[in-house]
Amino acid sequence: MSRPVGLISALPAEFSYFEDFVDSSPVVREAGWEFRNGVLEDIPLVIVEAGMGKVQTAVVATLLIQQFGCGGLIFSGVAGGLSPDLAIGDAVVATRVIQHDYGALVADGFVRYHPGVLPVPGIPTDHGYALDADVVDTLKSTLHGFRLPRLPGHLPIEDRQPTVNFGTILTGDQFVNSEEARNRLFGETGALAVEMEGGAMAQVAERLGVPWLVLRTLSDLAGVDSHIDFNVFTSAVASGAAALVREVLPVIVAKSDEGEPAKQ
Ligand code: ADE
Repeated sequence: MSRPVGLISALPAEFSYFEDFVDSSPVVREAGWEFRNGVLEDIPLVIVEAGMGKVQTAVVATLLIQQFGCGGLIFSGVAGGLSPDLAIGDAVVATRVIQHDYGALVADGFVRYHPGVLPVPGIPTDHGYALDADVVDTLKSTLHGFRLPRLPGHLPIEDRQPTVNFGTILTGDQFVNSEEARNRLFGETGALAVEMEGGAMAQVAERLGVPWLVLRTLSDLAGVDSHIDFNVFTSAVASGAAALVREVLPVIVAKSDEGEPAKQ
């Protein structure tokens, strides 16, 4: 049997969709988190609601790999949309994740660097963790023709079929609630969405040599109304991210079974 896949969400509304997968195995409590065993289509899972932000996610990701023996990690949850082409309910499958708040504050603004490097002039400013091209290709073919669930009719939003998109997701310890910040982040990076955990999980996974995926559906558009939209839409749109998990689990299991050596 393959090693289990670690499945992380930040919030109860995101996590609730996975409770159906949980079997009767005892819950293991560690450092204040509850790690539950589950099985989905014969794939063993360890499921945890980690809370928000990069540090909590990094600790949970480390425990999942080192203590619970997970061979791959998936983050499933909601994000704020950055691209003007996307709407609430649309999904973004990360092909790259960038920690947008790691870097240097300088006289004329902020210079972004790769997490862990010394953020000073002369050090390369390329950043982010990217999926291997073969994984992106497999994800695209796996999800070809997949339709996300439509949002419930009572929600205050146009009834349309949500789309599945592939691209960069930003991660930072900041909830983006500003039109100016949204436009700046999109202009600087071209990222499709912003959240608060995925880049931290990817950093741990890369460091410890296991594959990772970040799957997000848009609860808001990171602008002036994002705090309102987040409350209205999170619970409904999170079901789309959970539906994506079911589809792509075999992709991460296959990558994990390749048993790649640890990257630095
Ligand atoms: N997660 C969901 N919406 C978000 C936002 N606007 N900023 C950061 N993380 C988010």
